[in-house]
Amino acid sequence: MVLHFVTGGFINLVIIGAGGHAKVVAEAAQLSGWHIIGVLDDTFEKTIDDFPYLGTVANFHAIQNAHYVIAIGANKAREKIKTLLKNNVIWAIIVHPQAIVSPKVKIGVGTVIFAGAIVQADTVIGEHVILNTGSRVDHDNKIADFVHVAPNAVLTGGVELEEGVFVGAGAIVTPGLKLKKWCTLGAGTVAIRGEYLENQIYVGNPARKLFKP
Ligand SMILES: CC(C)(COP(=O)(O)OP(=O)(O)OC[C@H]1O[C@@H](n2cnc3c(N)ncnc32)[C@H](O)[C@@H]1OP(=O)(O)O)[C@@H](O)C(=O)NCCC(=O)NCCS
Repeated sequence: MVLHFVTGGFINLVIIGAGGHAKVVAEAAQLSGWHIIGVLDDTFEKTIDDFPYLGTVANFHAIQNAHYVIAIGANKAREKIKTLLKNNVIWAIIVHPQAIVSPKVKIGVGTVIFAGAIVQADTVIGEHVILNTGSRVDHDNKIADFVHVAPNAVLTGGVELEEGVFVGAGAIVTPGLKLKKWCTLGAGTVAIRGEYLENQIYVGNPARKLFKP
């Protein structure tokens, strides 16, 4: 489902994840008006900041009148938790007040947009996407579910990222390129032309496929 941009307005929010990424999500959520009632986490079995620890995702019971967000940077982890919780929860959309998002952008549920991110007209963003600090997503991009655009990465116009793509910090994707499912661009990569195939890793300027033994 794709929704137009909404803000919290003091609605209860449960954060899933207790790593560094979750701290940044929590701050963006509070600054945009969400009321955080606690943290679920399996990996660290702890909370962040002073929020109540609500237990593990595995033992989760839906809390009424709360929205949820998966605050974990790893794309596969977000997909796994989304699949586990099915549609038993209402997913939040979190947009830091200092992100600049065109009113002509559509944003799927579960997506978080951090401080300094800029998203331009007619871009469509899927569910459980991360647009990290200072990332720039220009006009007419199509960003599928579980994508992560890392800090300072740049997607120029008309880029298409299929499900689960990871664009590393400071990477640049030139106009009209399509990156296939779950492929990775390393930090600082410049993707200028060619094919970006499913599950493959690309690094360098210009981008080349990383062959691993
Ligand atoms: C691309 C990446 C995923 C590869 O990780 P990896 O599979 O563990 O790769 P390795 O560290 O084993 O490196 C393998 C080779 O690729 C090179 N390489 C790795 N990342 C590179 C990058 N971003 N640019 C250029 N070369 C890179 C390494 O120097 C190494 O080269 P060598 O075999 O000649 O020594 C990782 O290096 C990366 O860039 N991650 C993005 C991190 C990021 O942006 N995080 C944001 C979090 S919000």
